[in-house]
Amino acid sequence: MLGGMPSIAQTESCQVWRTSRAGSLRRLKLSTLPLGAPAPHEVQVDVVAIGLNFADIFACLGLYSATPAGAFIPGLECAGIIRATGSAVSNWQVGDRVMVLTRFGGYATRLNVDARYLWPVPPDWSLAEAAAYPVQALTAWYGLLPLGQVTVDSLVLLHSAAGGVGLNALQALEQLQAKVIAVVGSQSKAEWLQETQSLAAEQIVIRDRHFAQRLDQALASLGAKGFDVVFDAVYGPVFESGFNRLAPEGRYILYGAADFMNTGSFANPLRLAWRYLRRPRLDPLTMISQNRGLRAFNLIWLWDEVERLPKAMHDTLQLIPKPPVLGGHYPFEAAHEAMQTLQAGQTRGKLLLVVSAHQHDPFMRGAR
Ligand SMILES: NC(=O)c1ccc[n+]([C@@H]2O[C@H](COP(=O)([O-])OP(=O)(O)OC[C@H]3O[C@@H](n4cnc5c(N)ncnc54)[C@H](OP(=O)(O)O)[C@@H]3O)[C@@H](O)[C@H]2O)c1
Repeated sequence: MLGGMPSIAQTESCQVWRTSRAGSLRRLKLSTLPLGAPAPHEVQVDVVAIGLNFADIFACLGLYSATPAGAFIPGLECAGIIRATGSAVSNWQVGDRVMVLTRFGGYATRLNVDARYLWPVPPDWSLAEAAAYPVQALTAWYGLLPLGQVTVDSLVLLHSAAGGVGLNALQALEQLQAKVIAVVGSQSKAEWLQETQSLAAEQIVIRDRHFAQRLDQALASLGAKGFDVVFDAVYGPVFESGFNRLAPEGRYILYGAADFMNTGSFANPLRLAWRYLRRPRLDPLTMISQNRGLRAFNLIWLWDEVERLPKAMHDTLQLIPKPPVLGGHYPFEAAHEAMQTLQAGQTRGKLLLVVSAHQHDPFMRGAR
């Protein structure tokens, strides 16, 4: 990515998935839009693969706090090849393989992006792996280290362990030599984790109506009085079971509320209102006497702290150096199918959209 002569693309077109406004996945439509040359501080990227996030669905349904008003293109990350550079960009050149963070706008076949939101793809990674990495790895890093302060021998209760963030968190916890109890929503995911992630059966808990008793059994088998950290983006009925089993000084890291998700194309306001009214709440006075804490975060906040991103990404790659586990891919045109699959809550690893118009093979490892 040495500085090269900037090359300026003429006005071209790109395909995007765009919704006229949040509220229903059905409003998400494939459109062709004109794309001008990159501004001086931007690069133009030919997108090869796009990482899907649960937040994309929440955004389209209007349940994500950072959802833009009016029309928007979902998508928080992708990977591709630089096609043109703006006149003020000196540290990237045409042909570089890049991972891209986008604050929305990632569901596109080609895009112009501020050059500060790019990272080089590690040489032995494919573009598919690169597209799958930034959001979920940054989330796992931020929640477990800066907030969770996980250290050697910390005991961590990890929710949705077979999902995108969850598998990154498993890798991070292994690197930190922490102890983990992994939670999943089904027996088949539990078996998959045992087969692929070398977790023992007693390290896995299924989130069913016996969840609280299962946590007590897991703690008893370890001879532990409580968890040092709970890492949870499910919330709802599992929250209190985990919070009440934090050890003194324990940290509950809450970063999502997948329990609010339903399976339809619309947000289902009645169901949401019911869940919202019944949501668990905490009493700060009890937290003092029990010496437990809650930290909550939305990573989108880091997008506005762009000067912090290089260190955040560096630290994330140190903690989670292996490419992510890919859970499946769909052609760019099949975004609805891909999102419905993710929404159903049965996926393992990361789902991708792949832009088929390119000759580059996104699954081919290493530089072109
Ligand atoms: N705060 C942030 O900055 C941030 C950043 C990234 C992701 N997140 C959140 O982290 C979570 C994981 O994200 P991800 O993209 O890696 O997704 P994922 O874990 O691959 O998929 C979401 C998982 O949520 C679980 N789930 C629980 N209740 C569900 C329900 N009612 N409907 C559907 N799924 C349900 C399912 O796994 P199990 O049933 O096995 O638990 C499902 O596989 C999401 O909740 C997301 O919103 C937050």
